[in-house]
Amino acid sequence: MVPLPEPSSVSEKVRVLESLVKIPTYSVAGFTHGRVVYVSTAEGVISLWSLNPATREVRRLTRNPVHSVAPAHRKSRYVAFTRDVTRGMELHKPFIVNVETGGEELLADVPPMRIFGLVWDGVRERLIFSAATRSGIGLFMAWRGGYEKLLDVNAIVEPTDIDGDLVAGFGMLKGNPLSMELFTYDIGSGEFKVYTPKEGSVNKAPALHGGKLLFESNFEGSNALYVYDVRTEELGKPEMEGGDYSRFAPVENSVYGWTPDGRVWAVGEREGRSKPFVDGHEVPSPGGTVGYLALSDDSSRAYYSASSLTSPPKIYEADLRGGSYRVLLDNPLPEELRGRIGKSYFIKCRSADGLEVPTFVVESPHAGRPGPTVVYVHGGPWSEVMDAWSVLINSLVVSGYHVIAPNFRGSTGYGEDFRLKDIGDPGGGDLEDVVAAARWGVESGLASDVGIVGYSYGGYMTYLALGRKPELWRAGVAGAGIVDWRELYELSDALFRKFIETLFGGIKEGLMVERSPITYVRNVRAPLCIIHPQNDSRTPLKPVLRYVEELLKRGVTFEAHVLPDMGHAAKTVDDIVRVVLPTVLFLDRYLKPAQS
Ligand code: 4NP
Repeated sequence: MVPLPEPSSVSEKVRVLESLVKIPTYSVAGFTHGRVVYVSTAEGVISLWSLNPATREVRRLTRNPVHSVAPAHRKSRYVAFTRDVTRGMELHKPFIVNVETGGEELLADVPPMRIFGLVWDGVRERLIFSAATRSGIGLFMAWRGGYEKLLDVNAIVEPTDIDGDLVAGFGMLKGNPLSMELFTYDIGSGEFKVYTPKEGSVNKAPALHGGKLLFESNFEGSNALYVYDVRTEELGKPEMEGGDYSRFAPVENSVYGWTPDGRVWAVGEREGRSKPFVDGHEVPSPGGTVGYLALSDDSSRAYYSASSLTSPPKIYEADLRGGSYRVLLDNPLPEELRGRIGKSYFIKCRSADGLEVPTFVVESPHAGRPGPTVVYVHGGPWSEVMDAWSVLINSLVVSGYHVIAPNFRGSTGYGEDFRLKDIGDPGGGDLEDVVAAARWGVESGLASDVGIVGYSYGGYMTYLALGRKPELWRAGVAGAGIVDWRELYELSDALFRKFIETLFGGIKEGLMVERSPITYVRNVRAPLCIIHPQNDSRTPLKPVLRYVEELLKRGVTFEAHVLPDMGHAAKTVDDIVRVVLPTVLFLDRYLKPAQS
C-alpha cells in the first residue's frame, strides 16, 4: 500500500476527520411488521430508521435526536424511545413512532426526568420505565395520553421485559454495591418481589417467556445463563439444541432473549469479540462485535449489526436454515481513509499488582515505530473497548496516532470478578492498569511519546493520570471529566448519587478527596486540553471551572473548550466534531513531534 502523505494543513486534517465522523453508526433495535428497526447517525443526527430486508428500502423515522430506544416488539408497529427535552441536561420524555410510516408522537406528558431503563409492552402498547429526579428513583408506566408511578424504588433498577401484567427487571435491590438482584412487579396486584439465587451474587437483565425468567448470573462463579420459573420457583440452565454456544464458552452474554417459540438466543462474548447464537447454534456472522440480535417471526432469519475496530458497522441478515449471511446495509470505509487505519490486535498488559489487563491496540500506518501514541481510556467505568468500530479511537488513528485502549479493572466483558474490582477503589487499581498500558506502549517499541485521552470516566482518569503520574505523559485531553467527587455528589440526581455510592462502596468522604483530580492539580505538568459540554448533568461543568482556575494560577499550558448547548452524550455528527477536532488539533501541537 502506498502511504498517504501526512495531513499537514488544518483544512486537510478537518477533511480527514469529517470523512471519519460522517461514517454512520448502525445498531439494530428489533424486527417488527416485516421491518428491521435500527438506530443510526446517517444524515447527521442519532435517529430511528427502519429497513425492509426484501427490498432494502430504508426509511428515516425520526428527525430530532433520540436518547434510548426500547427493543422493538414484534406485536407492535410502534417503537418506543426517549428524547432529551432540556438541551442536553438529560431530562427525557417518552415517545413512540410507527415503523412503517414514521409518524412520531409524544406517548404521555410525563414531567421531564432522567429515564434510564425502558421496556415496551407491544401487546398493550404501554411503556414501563425507571426514571430519576433530584430526589428519588421510581418505576413508571406510560400509555397513550397517561402515566402512573408504579412504585418508589430508590435504587438503581431497570425493567427489562414485560409479559401480560408481569414486569421483570434487575437492580441493586439489597443496597450491596457488589450484588444485583432480579425483580418482578405485577401491575395488576402491585406485588413487587425480589429474587436472587444466592445472596451477594450479580444477576442481570431478565427476559420473560411463559412465566420464566432468562437471566445472566455469577452465582456459581463465572457468568452463565439461567432460567427461573416464577410460579414453581425452579431454577435451571436453559436447554440448547446446538453445541456451538458451549464450545464458544462465552465469558459474558452481552444480550440474550427468547425466540417467539420459546428457545434461547444469546450474543456471547469473549476477549472483546462477540458471536450470536440461537438455540445453541452459531448464527453466521463476519467476526468482530455483534450488537442486538433481532429474529424474524418464524425465527428463520436473524438481523444484527456488526463491526470491528477497523471496519465500520453494517447491518446483516443471516439465514438460520442455510447457514449463510449477507450484508443488508453496507458501510464501506471512505476512499480518503483507506490506508489510514493500520492493524488492530488484542494484548494483555501486566499491571503493578500482576493483574493482566486486556487491551486493544490500533496502529496508525503513518505514526512510525516508535511513534506518537495515545492511551485511550473508555468511559463507564462499567463498559469496555471491544473489537468494534469507535469514532473516538479512529479519529486518533486516522490523524496519525497509535492507540492503546486498556480494559482496566472494572471493565465489562471479562466476568464479574474483574468488573467488581474497581468498587471501593475508583482511580486506584484502574489507574495502575492505564499506566501499565502506557508502559507497554514504550516497552514494546510501539510508542515514542505517549498522550492520554478519555471521555467521561475516561476524562476523570485522564485528569487523575496527569496529576498522579505526571512523568508519563506528553499531553492529555479530558472530555466531560470528573475532577471532584464530593462536589459531583452534591450536584448529582438520585441516580448518580447511587452510582457514586456504588463506585466508592458507600459514602466515603476521605477516599472521595484522595481520588479527586483536583487534589493533584498542582502536580500537572503536561499540556492539557479540556473539553466539556455546557449542559452536562452527569459530569457537570461547574467543578471543572474551578480546576481551570487552578491550572491558570500554576501556569500550566492548557486549552478549555466549553461546548455550548451540548449535554453529556453526543447526539449529532456535529457534536462529535466538536469533541474530536479540538482533540486532534491539540495533540498535533503537543504530542506529535515537529515534522521536518
Ligand atoms: P460515563 O460517565 O463514563 O459516561 O458513564 C460517568 C458519569 C458520572 C459518573 C461516572 C461516570 N459518576 O460516578 O457520577
